[in-house]
Amino acid sequence: MNMQCSELQTRSKLSIRTGICMINSYFRSFFPVVVLVGVVPQLYTMWLSWRVVSFCLPKWLYQRGDDAVFLIYQRIILYFFEHWVKAEILFYGDVEDVFKKREKVIYISNHQSTVDWIIVGMLAIRQGSEGNVRFIMKNQLQLIPMVGMYLYHHGCIYVRRGKFNPEKMMAGLEYLKNRDIPSWIVIFPEGTRYNPESKDLAEKNKQIAQSQGLQPLTHCSMPKSRGFHLMMEKMRNNIEYVYNATIIYEDAQEKGQRKRAPSMFEFMKLHKPRIHIHVERISVSSIPKGESDVKTWLNNAFTNTDSGSPPVNLS
Ligand SMILES: *[C@@H]1O[C@H](CO)[C@@H](O)[C@H](O)[C@H]1NC(C)=O
Repeated sequence: MNMQCSELQTRSKLSIRTGICMINSYFRSFFPVVVLVGVVPQLYTMWLSWRVVSFCLPKWLYQRGDDAVFLIYQRIILYFFEHWVKAEILFYGDVEDVFKKREKVIYISNHQSTVDWIIVGMLAIRQGSEGNVRFIMKNQLQLIPMVGMYLYHHGCIYVRRGKFNPEKMMAGLEYLKNRDIPSWIVIFPEGTRYNPESKDLAEKNKQIAQSQGLQPLTHCSMPKSRGFHLMMEKMRNNIEYVYNATIIYEDAQEKGQRKRAPSMFEFMKLHKPRIHIHVERISVSSIPKGESDVKTWLNNAFTNTDSGSPPVNLS
């Protein structure tokens, strides 16, 4: 859409067509934002009423109602990010098994854009689990009005960056251990979104890799293993599978050169964005126990992701 406008612009400096095209382009990206922000107070009120009503009910029952509210919001989000932008999503790997039936899982993936959060929903909705997605998130997001507090009550877990606080995470996971609370627990082991254009990040990644005697990665960051390990320790007997997604945004490649992946807002302005999603369904029993083994396993896995072979080639 945007590209078309600029093409028009170069041909005829400021014609009516260019003007209409630009208005259209702004409308296409702003309208979803207006809706997505606009419905928050309504849904929040709905949820808050349920929270009050369900106060004396068992936790799982509260969670059912809450997940139903979350599901509504997820569907609105997915409408815009799939249909409105006419996204072309290509799935690879074990998707047939993933879409077959609802499962309680831990979800990990490479992390390069805020759109990665929505991709979780794109997969979950095809399993009927879009209301049960819960994120491990940065502490700062707690400050977003209404949404920050809501997500906590939805079962998301806030973790502090840098100074990791295991107690808080343990408490959150304890709640999610409840067998009657179905979940996709999402953690991005890299922590920070990977941006191939950031020199600072490249330098930091190089230092981390060197301190562990490893080769620095070039298409993702070195994973942090503490959170993932804690999660495995706590949830091992509660879940059967880890879903490992590898995401490629076609708009983050340019003539074989990788660039920054589009943010949510930029994604909205794209014309038929193409995304490749590879999912691997890993049996929990095949993941090692013990902190140092988990660390090695995760490091090896991300080294593999980094040097991936088609169709999951990030380079
Ligand atoms: C996830 O899948 C990618 C692509 O197959 C692979 O390179 C990577 O090692 C996998 N990660 C884990 C944690 O298994």
